[in-house]
Amino acid sequence: MSTLWDKERVKRYIRLYGDPRDKKGTQSQLCKDAAELIPHRTPMLLDVGCGIGHLIPHLHEGVNSYTGLDLSPEMLKQAKEYFPEHNFVEKDATTFKYPNGVSFEVVISISMFIHLPEGIARLALKNMWEHVAPGGSLIFGMETLGNSVQIRPSGLLIRNQSPEKVKKMIAEIIPDALMTYEFHQRVVYQTTSDVVFTRESPNKLISHAPVARTTLYKVDKKL
Ligand SMILES: C[S@@+](CC[C@H](N)C(=O)[O-])C[C@H]1O[C@@H](n2cnc3c(N)ncnc32)[C@H](O)[C@@H]1O
Repeated sequence: MSTLWDKERVKRYIRLYGDPRDKKGTQSQLCKDAAELIPHRTPMLLDVGCGIGHLIPHLHEGVNSYTGLDLSPEMLKQAKEYFPEHNFVEKDATTFKYPNGVSFEVVISISMFIHLPEGIARLALKNMWEHVAPGGSLIFGMETLGNSVQIRPSGLLIRNQSPEKVKKMIAEIIPDALMTYEFHQRVVYQTTSDVVFTRESPNKLISHAPVARTTLYKVDKKL
């Protein structure tokens, strides 16, 4: 898996979504929306599958400590270059552990689940939930444009699943959730050269091949 997120893919990611510090482009927009779900008082936040750090510029001042976790050394290298003041760790979402029961008020993951096969996604979700502090929240994006799996020529998996299936998965993996919120859905259209959202830039639509629709979920944990 990690070999897919190599130097070439980092370059491509920047080409498609831009420098995160500019806060422009579709990935920044999605991260901005996700950041709005972060509760005001968040002493510690863990960003799982942080990539090159598109979420960071959208964090509000109530987030005291940010840690970006990713399994790709190349994505992390770029993230550290952009955001040297932040903490990054090279770990796998399915297996990472923090010693002495360290947990986070928010564990968040944007645009990672789209690339994970179902079994891996379930393991990651379970592990992430275990690192949410009591009273904290798990926030994540799942791609919900029907049920489909595409394997790109690069080997990258693009997985959409129905909102019903996601709900079932959350109920199975997180039976002790206090409450689950679902937020707006977007459809992403992609060509070889660009990605556009229908809602933000309907006039720029250059392809009618939808690849994904992201739904943002926030699952709260009991105190
Ligand atoms: C599409 S990028 C999203 C990056 C970032 N969250 C954003 O919104 O721009 C997906 C990221 O997930 C990471 N990833 C994929 N599988 C992972 C896993 N099992 N554990 C940790 N990170 C993973 C990849 O290395 C990549 O950086």
